[in-house]
Amino acid sequence: MKRPTIGILTWREGKRFAEPTYFRRLLKAGQELGCTAFLFSPKDVLASGKQVRGYVLDANGKWQSRLFDRPDAVFDRYRYTPTQAFKDYVAFRRTSPFLYANNRLANKWRVHEVLHRDSRMHRWLPETLLYNRQNLIKMLGRHSLLYVKPLNGTGGRNILSIEKHGGGYRLLGRDKQRAKISKVFSDISAVLRWTDRWTRQEKYIVQQGLRLQLVPARAVDMRLLIQKNGQGEWSITGHGFRVGGERSATSNLHGGGKAVPVPAFLKPKFGEERSAQIVRDCEDLAHQTAETLEDHFGRMVEFGLDIGIDVDGRAWLIEVNPKPAREIFREMGATEQYKRAIQRPLEYAIYLAKTQGREGREPLLKRKVASR
Ligand SMILES: Nc1ncnc2c1ncn2[C@@H]1O[C@H](COP(=O)(O)OP(=O)(O)O)[C@@H](O)[C@H]1O
Ligand SMILES: [Mg+2]
Repeated sequence: MKRPTIGILTWREGKRFAEPTYFRRLLKAGQELGCTAFLFSPKDVLASGKQVRGYVLDANGKWQSRLFDRPDAVFDRYRYTPTQAFKDYVAFRRTSPFLYANNRLANKWRVHEVLHRDSRMHRWLPETLLYNRQNLIKMLGRHSLLYVKPLNGTGGRNILSIEKHGGGYRLLGRDKQRAKISKVFSDISAVLRWTDRWTRQEKYIVQQGLRLQLVPARAVDMRLLIQKNGQGEWSITGHGFRVGGERSATSNLHGGGKAVPVPAFLKPKFGEERSAQIVRDCEDLAHQTAETLEDHFGRMVEFGLDIGIDVDGRAWLIEVNPKPAREIFREMGATEQYKRAIQRPLEYAIYLAKTQGREGREPLLKRKVASR
């Protein structure tokens, strides 16, 4: 076969790209793996559909565009923004005739529904309902800590925790700008008035809150990266812990979180054997999640999972990121894992290009085509 060409779908404005640093590393990895990788955005596909304006780096590390034939496979890295450009991308994904390494995933609520339909997932799923007054009251009756999160949120924005506290309620959270929020209310009607206002702009879920304070007064959760490899199989690339800032409801890096390797973190608390068990459970969770979601949404290439380990050592799935960051490995100094995390989606895309999508999951492909 000729040298495979892999298109990377993303946002661009002139020669500004959504994730320039990551893309530089990705294109370099492409060279090392023997493929031709280029960036493109929905507007770069020529009317014929047979050619694409693609962006690559020249010898001086500057972005250059040139015309390419239709790529053999496409890695979709277009990330959510609340803009018209994103709506255009969604329409583009429905009609563009490429062999995609990954499909789109749905919002947090839809993803929860799909996972919850699979009983094999139940033990890892915190109770989750759509936000409304009745559901909030119901959930407060069942759990002493709740999280309220937007269906389309990312990066720890617009997240609120509600904790029963003395006879009242303590609310902690992060607003749109990720500024900290802290409120205390003495009765539930005051809470409801406030949360109704908080959730007015968009839809939210209300979720069982997990006790993740493995470090006192800090939110801690695991980030696990599961990816397809060059044989088309799911494989766990690595994991790390993210320790949130002091008195923060979230552990996201942008909110002041720190990255810590997993064994160093678990062993002092749970001992060697129990720690190994917990890690195995997280890996089972990851494989099952990938399989269940792929069965429903079609072919996928990677997932970044936010996993909560509660103070009893139980693993819970908090969030599935279909277009995850991989910086946690770099922050931990895990350079090999970081390199692999960048390479793997390309290795899978090359595998797809070579097999032209006839990899071992025929029933899945037939179902996808049939449902269009
Ligand atoms: N149910 C929950 N229980 C405890 N902590 C949670 C819960 N949901 C979210 N968090 C905390 O908030 C962070 C952000 O929530 P997440 O659902 O991952 O949203 P985002 O898309 O903004 O990253 C998590 O990484 C975790 O630290
Ligand atoms: Mg998250």
